[in-house]
Amino acid sequence: MKSMSLKGFHIKPIDDFLESRKTVLTNSDCSIVLAAPKKSLRDYFYKNTDSDEVIFVHKGTGKFRSQLGNIAFKYGDYILIPRGMIYQIDFDTQDNRLFIVESKSPVYTPKRYRNWFGQHLETSPFCERDLHAPSELETYNIKGDFIIKVKKQDFIHEYVYAAHPFSVVGWDGYNFPYKFSIHDFEPITGRVHQPPPVHQTFETNAFSICSFVPRLYDYHPNAVPAPYNHSNIDSDEVLYYVDGNFMSRKNVDEGQITLHPSGIPHGPHPGTMEKSIGKKETTELAVMVDTFKPLMVTEEAMKINDNSYYQSWLEDS
Ligand SMILES: [Fe+2]
Repeated sequence: MKSMSLKGFHIKPIDDFLESRKTVLTNSDCSIVLAAPKKSLRDYFYKNTDSDEVIFVHKGTGKFRSQLGNIAFKYGDYILIPRGMIYQIDFDTQDNRLFIVESKSPVYTPKRYRNWFGQHLETSPFCERDLHAPSELETYNIKGDFIIKVKKQDFIHEYVYAAHPFSVVGWDGYNFPYKFSIHDFEPITGRVHQPPPVHQTFETNAFSICSFVPRLYDYHPNAVPAPYNHSNIDSDEVLYYVDGNFMSRKNVDEGQITLHPSGIPHGPHPGTMEKSIGKKETTELAVMVDTFKPLMVTEEAMKINDNSYYQSWLEDS
């Protein structure tokens, strides 16, 4: 049980989309994966039948392509892919960085943001207009050998379809991939420190995903904007640093992941609390995943582990 810091951008770029995906943290509910794919996924199709996927695009632009249509993506987009979707991905360049959460249970927008009819409330930090379903349906009526790599119980099974998997004329229903840009998350701020759930973006029955976006700090005259020290009991806390200055941390790089496990306390590094006094706003951009079950650290994570992280709480570090 130890606070850890992983250098996410040290994950090596790899040509193939599936081979590039490196699981760094995992439990029986979800896996947290980093990927730096260099090439578009065009040689085969991919279907994850274990998990919904949330792909956060840290670097790169391109097009997600599925049998329900295409979604153009760019920096800051969350792409939500329900399990069972057959898809490919086009990248415009070789410089791509993805932060992926695979979830064994469905990923929804939080129930407390919705009214009795299921619509997002006026007080929700985003609404239906910010969620973008696929457009540009590609349809094919061709025969051939189409390789589908199917993920089932963490193994990849290779199937060959005799017809193009996008052999559809249209679709209907409520189960479809969509995107949401972190830049469309409207932060909730207050006179005094707001609790972490104000940042919540997605929910499952096993973890939450939150977005920390540029925002005004607490504006009570005596407010201390840096967060208080705290000891998680109900969740392990994973932060993925995307951009901006991070108020509670020293020596944070983009693409870095911190893991603060439940059971031991964590909080601002020495000096950062005092430094935050009088600050009006933050430019930080980060994604947080709070898992209710403890996370295990993989060998891939140990390869990019910053073993000196605990020293960042020492006074003279
Ligand atoms: Fe925390």
